[in-house]
Parts: sequence; structure tokens; C-alpha cells
Amino acid sequence: MSSLYARLGGEGAIQAAVVLFYEKVMADPTLAPFFAGLDMGAQISKQIAFMTMAFGGPNRYTGRDLQTAHARLVRDGLGDSHFASIARHLDETLAELGVARPLIDEVIAIVASTKKDVLSR
Ligand code: HEM
Repeated sequence: MSSLYARLGGEGAIQAAVVLFYEKVMADPTLAPFFAGLDMGAQISKQIAFMTMAFGGPNRYTGRDLQTAHARLVRDGLGDSHFASIARHLDETLAELGVARPLIDEVIAIVASTKKDVLSR
């Protein structure tokens, strides 16, 4: 079977999803403070590269590992509720873009698999 990346629609589809996803994240007052002062253009580029790799597309990710990247946030209180909200915003983004439910579920399973790293557990 072709990669999840390809079935989602490839590069253009991932780019559109990540841009809309961060619009939702930044509009969420429980999440936006974690991104204060961050260059969101750079963040969007890193997340596109990360998701492309994680969903089986070309590996162009040169960012930090997820535990290192989120360690300061965990010290600042990042926890289960924030992780769940991030996953929900991604789910709703993909639904809004017309992605079929079984594909969304595959995406969310991959996101869920990063939880131990993101939350340093
Ligand atoms: C759900 C799974 C998550 C994935 C796959 C993920 C992925 C990433 C990636 C790839 C980066 C870039 C790493 C780098 O800068 O080298 C990053 C950074 C970041 N993430 Fe996440 N993330 C997740 C959850 C979260 C959550 C729950 C929050 C907070 C609400 C968050 C906030 C941030 C922030 C603020 C940065 C920038 C950190 C910095 O540059 O100091 N992430 N994330």
C-alpha cells in the first residue's frame, strides 16, 4: 500500500494542513502561550518536514528530536491536556480539509505514538 503521506495527498496537502492546524493552535488560549515569541514560519516548515517523514514521505527533517524540542515546555507545565488539545486540533483540521476518517485515525495514531517523547516520559 502507498504511504500515508501519499494517501493524504502528498506535499501540497501536508502544507495546507499544517498551516490551518497552527491557525487553530494559535487561536486556542490554552496553547498559544507555549508558542509566544516563536518564529511561526520556521515552526510551520519544521512541522511540515516532521509530518512528511512521520507519514512515510521523503525524510528532510533536520530539527531536534521531540524530547529535546519540548523539554523546556514540559518544565513550564506542558502536559496531557495540552497534548490532547493539539491532537484534537489536528483531527479537526484534517476533517475540515475533507480527509476521510480512516486516514485521520492513522494520523492520530502516529501522533499519539510521540506522546512519551513530547512529554519526556
Ligand atoms: C503532538 C505531538 C507533537 C509533535 C509531533 C510535535 C512536533 C514538533 C516539532 C517537529 C518541533 C520542531 C523541533 C525543533 O525546533 O527542532 C516542535 C517544536 C515545538 N513544539 Fe511541538 N510537537 C508536538 C506537541 C506539542 C505540544 C502539545 C505543544 C504545546 C502545546 C508543542 C509546542 C511546541 C513548541 C512551542 C515548539 C518550539 C520549541 C522551541 O523552539 O523552543 N508541541 N514540535
